[in-house]
Amino acid sequence: MVQLNLPQKSRMIKGKNWPKPDSSSNVAEFEIYRWNPDNDDNPSTDKYYVDLDECGPMVLDALMKIKNEIDPTLTFRRSCREGVCGSCAMNIDGTNTLACTCAIEDIKGAVKIYPLPHQEVLKDLVPDLNNFFAQHKSIEPWLHTTSVPPETEWKQSKEDREQLDGLYECILCACCSTSCPSYWWNSDRYLGPAILLQAYRWIIDSRDEATGDRLDDLEDPFRLYRCHTIMNCTKSCPKGLNPAKAIAKIKKLMVERQV
Ligand code: SF4
Ligand code: SF4
Ligand code: FES
Repeated sequence: MVQLNLPQKSRMIKGKNWPKPDSSSNVAEFEIYRWNPDNDDNPSTDKYYVDLDECGPMVLDALMKIKNEIDPTLTFRRSCREGVCGSCAMNIDGTNTLACTCAIEDIKGAVKIYPLPHQEVLKDLVPDLNNFFAQHKSIEPWLHTTSVPPETEWKQSKEDREQLDGLYECILCACCSTSCPSYWWNSDRYLGPAILLQAYRWIIDSRDEATGDRLDDLEDPFRLYRCHTIMNCTKSCPKGLNPAKAIAKIKKLMVERQV
């Protein structure tokens, strides 16, 4: 029978309201999703207040300030703080994006922060991306060759190299895949936009000699064809990439090899 209500343990409850700093008038409010697998509580949102005169400009700066100075139990991923590692991806103000490149001043009202949607949560803002990275591994994201290796390197013309522009910049942050409704409902079988963009990056690489095998691997009603061109993926990519276009190009190659 269809379950129309959220399971009891998924219902959000009121969280903790942390004190405001009394020294400054330049204070921003942050509403942050909290869930701890080590206790029996439902998820909640805690309210924190950060003095922006004492904080860097990005949402990640505020998260680090909260963790360092207010609540050390707040859990999130981050590494480079330069928009290149992809680990600080989360849902901020209703959009999947990178906390380290998202300016606090661009957000009106309270800054609402949740984990990337439709993934299991490990703790607070940390989603379980094991399936996502297993899917990446499944497309064998490395050069496949059968020719005798050259003495120095596999060469590529300037034009062939340019085919990789808009693809190699992907940082595997998962913002696109976790904004895709098809991926929400079928992430066990549909590869999703990030992994399909990565797949196309190897399909189109002039040095790769496994193009046919790579296309065979994607010729499946779920792995590729669950994309219904809804375009959420392209709207949400914080690196300005276009996974929907890469998926369309794979589908075109599938048709071309039939004729
Ligand atoms: S274009 Fe395809 S991959 Fe992108 S959001 Fe839509 S269904 Fe998902
Ligand atoms: S295509 Fe963009 S949103 Fe998707 S994983 Fe790569 S960098 Fe992130
Ligand atoms: S911390 Fe690396 S992308 Fe944000």
